[in-house]
Amino acid sequence: MNFDWQAPGRIRFGAGVSSEAQAAVAELGGGAFVVVGRDPDRHAGWVRALGASGVVERWSVVGEPTVDDVREGAEAARAAGARVVVAIGGGAVLDAGKAVAALASNPGDPMEFLEVIGRGQPLRERPLPVVAVPTTAGTGSEATRNAVLGSPAHRLKVSLRSVGMIPRVAFVDPELTLGCPRAVTAASGLDALTQLLEPFVCRKANAMTDALCREGLSRVGRDLRRVLADGMDREARAGMAWCSLAGGLALANAGLGAVHGFAAPAGGMFPIPHGVVCAALLGPVVAVNLAALESRHPGHEALARYDEAARRLTGDPGMDRLGLVAWIGELVREAGIPRLASLGLEESAWDTLVLAAQRASSMKGNPVELDAGELREVLSREFRRAI
Ligand SMILES: [Fe+2]
Repeated sequence: MNFDWQAPGRIRFGAGVSSEAQAAVAELGGGAFVVVGRDPDRHAGWVRALGASGVVERWSVVGEPTVDDVREGAEAARAAGARVVVAIGGGAVLDAGKAVAALASNPGDPMEFLEVIGRGQPLRERPLPVVAVPTTAGTGSEATRNAVLGSPAHRLKVSLRSVGMIPRVAFVDPELTLGCPRAVTAASGLDALTQLLEPFVCRKANAMTDALCREGLSRVGRDLRRVLADGMDREARAGMAWCSLAGGLALANAGLGAVHGFAAPAGGMFPIPHGVVCAALLGPVVAVNLAALESRHPGHEALARYDEAARRLTGDPGMDRLGLVAWIGELVREAGIPRLASLGLEESAWDTLVLAAQRASSMKGNPVELDAGELREVLSREFRRAI
């Protein structure tokens, strides 16, 4: 029953709760540096309402943030004298906000702190407090301690990671996800599903993360299908927002697996959204993991966990792991997830990607060690999948 639990200081969940953010920012001393996404007008009213607590500056990040983006954002936050970072948007915006908050109080070269491509040193100073307000349901970034940053020069995505980067307050307001386009709903929703399944079967699962994953796995299959059918289904949007949060808490306190082991390098090598990579590789990774476990570790606990996950995801008490891969394949097809080859991930890149995936931190959580041939088989299965 041993575990180490790290989570936001406060999580406020429910329809309309984002209107309470002003008070939270004021309690943190005001002086907010507001990080938003591609369309800075999208939450203009909400940002204006923060004005009373003293918005210092609004800063926009386009797409998934790079190291240079957040270095620039941190300089702007420092120059503006920001005391709090408020991030409202999808996972990329929340990650950008968390990185800006960390680098604003730790000036200098970000390479000092970056994993893999940098020196991986701990932050010297505590990051500015972050108020996170997700507008998509998928990444769970409002609950995690890392920010994923692209480094185009290295063709990699790497994490800036520190316990102090966990947002101080998370406002998870499902109403904000109502306008989310279907393609984003699909990719982020399948990321949420992956982030409930990988921690549930991973090496460091514990009683706390199991509780969240069990509840999440029982909801996510049903609620994801509902929001794909009707983006205005408020009950299912709330369910998905909760699943995303639960997945974030689970991955931050247990770990992930081979899907996310591939996601960081694949997203660095090709401009493919994180959720799309995860969605496309989830079924193939489950298939290869099951084959590896059954051949090398036939009594492994993860096999029974895959059976349980299959029952919960499908809502069918007679389902087991044998039917799980086909069920995921059908959901991914229904969600309209494109094949990775159509987005630039060609067979010629597989060897480089496999090598990078083997070194990715998420790979350590996978329930079974996969060799290069098995990792290649994951990519090959995705390549061969029916659309
Ligand atoms: Fe993810």
